Amino acid sequence: MEKTKFGIQGLDKALEGGLPNGNLVLISGGAGTGKSTLCMQFLLNGATTFGEKALYISTEQNTEELYKQAASFGWNLAQLEEKNLLKIIFFDITQGANFLSEVDSVIKEFQPKRVVIDSMTTLTDALIIGGMGNQSDFSLVQVIEKVSPIPRTEQIIAKSILYKLIGELKKYKLTTLLTSELYEESKRLSADGISEFIADGVIIMHYIEIGVGDYRSLEIRKMRYSNYDKDIIPYTISDHGVEIMEKME
Ligand SMILES: Nc1ncnc2c1ncn2[C@@H]1O[C@H](COP(=O)(O)OP(=O)(O)OP(=O)(O)O)[C@@H](O)[C@H]1O
Ligand SMILES: [Mg+2]
Repeated sequence: MEKTKFGIQGLDKALEGGLPNGNLVLISGGAGTGKSTLCMQFLLNGATTFGEKALYISTEQNTEELYKQAASFGWNLAQLEEKNLLKIIFFDITQGANFLSEVDSVIKEFQPKRVVIDSMTTLTDALIIGGMGNQSDFSLVQVIEKVSPIPRTEQIIAKSILYKLIGELKKYKLTTLLTSELYEESKRLSADGISEFIADGVIIMHYIEIGVGDYRSLEIRKMRYSNYDKDIIPYTISDHGVEIMEKME
């Protein structure tokens, strides 16, 4: 199985070389755990080290905000965009446009190798609310046709939307990261409690405060088509972004 590397030492090792090509992987974690930073590194390293075109679809931070965040780590996103190695799309969920057809035309035109959707949670929340009445791919009528005659609860509508969204994204066979918000006390692996079953992989990022110190760790909870390190993997966020701490053997 060919692998797509994060370009982050320790993480690629834990993944036995990287993410299996074409896998769609959830990056789940609480606020400020470093989900967006990790995604940026995945795209930046892909573009600079491996010459692979990278697409960042953002639903929370606009391009300016992403530039600013990247600059805090010394990364120049604009430069990569000029070289046509990176494309950033800010998808304004309040505009309720047609997400899948927009993504489809961008992917066909730009032909990326790596894709990030940050955040999946914002997007699906918007689609579930927006699905109630507009002309999007997720119009309630289509959803109901699929789930009928099962009782049409909100949970089932949410599930159908996620199946459709993730299913459509998988068709491109591009290595894709989706971020999902997670509360520390949650027993789920994603905000919706569904995507972890549909995704090919799940990486959970934790942030725990102990006394005056804080502690970050990540965990690979699922990775189809590959073996991986099951241990808790401590990491830090430094001036270089997410860095995996060396394992004590
Ligand atoms: N230059 C830097 N050096 C060290 N740490 C930094 C630096 N810049 C940002 N950080 C840390 O990185 C964290 C931000 O990570 P990031 O935005 O990737 O998290 P996130 O999981 O995407 O958060 P959210 O849920 O808000 O989207 C901040 O909490 C901050 O502590
Ligand atoms: Mg983020």
